[in-house]
Amino acid sequence: MQRTNIADIVKNEEKEVELYGWVHARRDHGKLVFIDLRDRSGLCQVVFGPEVAGAPDLRLEYVVHVTGTVKARPERMVNEKIATGRYEVSASKLEILNTVSQIPFPVDTDGYDINEETRLAYRYVDLRRERLKNNLVLRGRVTKFIRDFLAERGFLEVETPDLTRSTPEGARDYLVPSRIAQGNFYALPQSPQQYKQLLMVGGIEKYFQIARCFRDEDTRGDRQPEFTQMDLEMSFVDQEDVMRVNEEMLIALVQAIAPEKKIQEIPFPRITYREAMERYGTDRPDIRNDKNDPNLLAFCWVVDFPFFEKSDDGGWTFTHNPFSAPKPEFMDDLMAGKNVSDILTTQYDVALNGFEVGGGSIRNHQPEALKAVFRIMGFSDERVQANFGHMIEALGSGAPPHGGIAWGLDRFIMLLAGEPNIREVIAFPKTGDGRDPMMGSPAEVDRKQLDELGLEIIKKIKKS
Ligand code: AMO
Repeated sequence: MQRTNIADIVKNEEKEVELYGWVHARRDHGKLVFIDLRDRSGLCQVVFGPEVAGAPDLRLEYVVHVTGTVKARPERMVNEKIATGRYEVSASKLEILNTVSQIPFPVDTDGYDINEETRLAYRYVDLRRERLKNNLVLRGRVTKFIRDFLAERGFLEVETPDLTRSTPEGARDYLVPSRIAQGNFYALPQSPQQYKQLLMVGGIEKYFQIARCFRDEDTRGDRQPEFTQMDLEMSFVDQEDVMRVNEEMLIALVQAIAPEKKIQEIPFPRITYREAMERYGTDRPDIRNDKNDPNLLAFCWVVDFPFFEKSDDGGWTFTHNPFSAPKPEFMDDLMAGKNVSDILTTQYDVALNGFEVGGGSIRNHQPEALKAVFRIMGFSDERVQANFGHMIEALGSGAPPHGGIAWGLDRFIMLLAGEPNIREVIAFPKTGDGRDPMMGSPAEVDRKQLDELGLEIIKKIKKS
């Protein structure tokens, strides 16, 4: 099959081409039928004379194969609105590859005004709209850039498991029942935090992953139950090293992928947590000096977070990550469990236009320091051993000093694309209440499946 992408007809004037795509628009002028034909690369006008069989039958979104000759349009017929608008294809043959019984909504608009439940129920149609296609193209280019950038700097892409064990990262876990060990559950990872640290213990030194994370928390515009992180970890580094490589990557990425965007300030300004709360009332400040400029990206680092905060039950809990190290000058207080509210962590967050797009820290690489964190949180030795024995043991088996970061990739791409929420940059997102109306998930399962897992549903939640 000799296929020409529609965008490439401009290189094929007076040549015969074979085009494949969807009928995007159609104008029947009696003798002549005009269509806009669409493939992933773009749109072009195709003209069918009466000699081409089948043309009057064409309807929107039919899938077709057109053979024809590329012609320059007369000057007054040029359509400047589309990239191929100086040309059209004069068809000699039409093959209808598939017809359409009904399309749920038009795809030649931006789609913002269409009910989102309907858009998600027919996402495979919704994805045909140019805006969503462009978002996925942007997303693909961003992940490719990250992979190239990090690979060039010696980072190794490593996959970590999705069937794992509960991690105390602040959100609720998604649980997966085990068939073989009935009554036991895997948890889906909230992030690859422990695995990436264990990779450092394993000598990988520089790791990254475009990692899927799962958190059973209330969905918002910038939160999904499953989302993607650009996750990395490095050995033998300090806070400045991790921040530097990330800042360099963010700047290079914006310049390469979104050159129309302007980064407000380089190097990224650094704001302490206290300053951010005092001046902006939030730990993800929007420091844009012109909030009307859609092309302005105001990155900043937020540093010097308190390590602990009071938990609901009056004890202490971590603010970000139990595996973080304190800033070096607070290590003695951590070990002694003294002045707990004043201990600052090595945590660094990247904020962009008022969103937290990333966060990380230097970790405690010595087991005693990690134990001290759990002691302050009031965990008994038995509980630490039961939940984190593997981490304590790993740190005691020759763990290098290490630290890392993760970006919320969906959020970052949302801001690059100028979209109002992350669902617009995810191919198959969930609704606000965590459903996928297309697949119909979550869904009940067969009695047999429950039996195999040794599970009994004792209470059916009434469906609203
Ligand atoms: P953290 O929990 O801060 O850190 O997550 C890192 C980044 O992930 C994004 N994010 C989300 N994006 C979409 N939907 C969600 N539900 C969601 N939750 C978080 C945010 C956030 O900044 N393991 C640590 C990282 C590390 O210390 O290296 C972690 O997961 O943009």
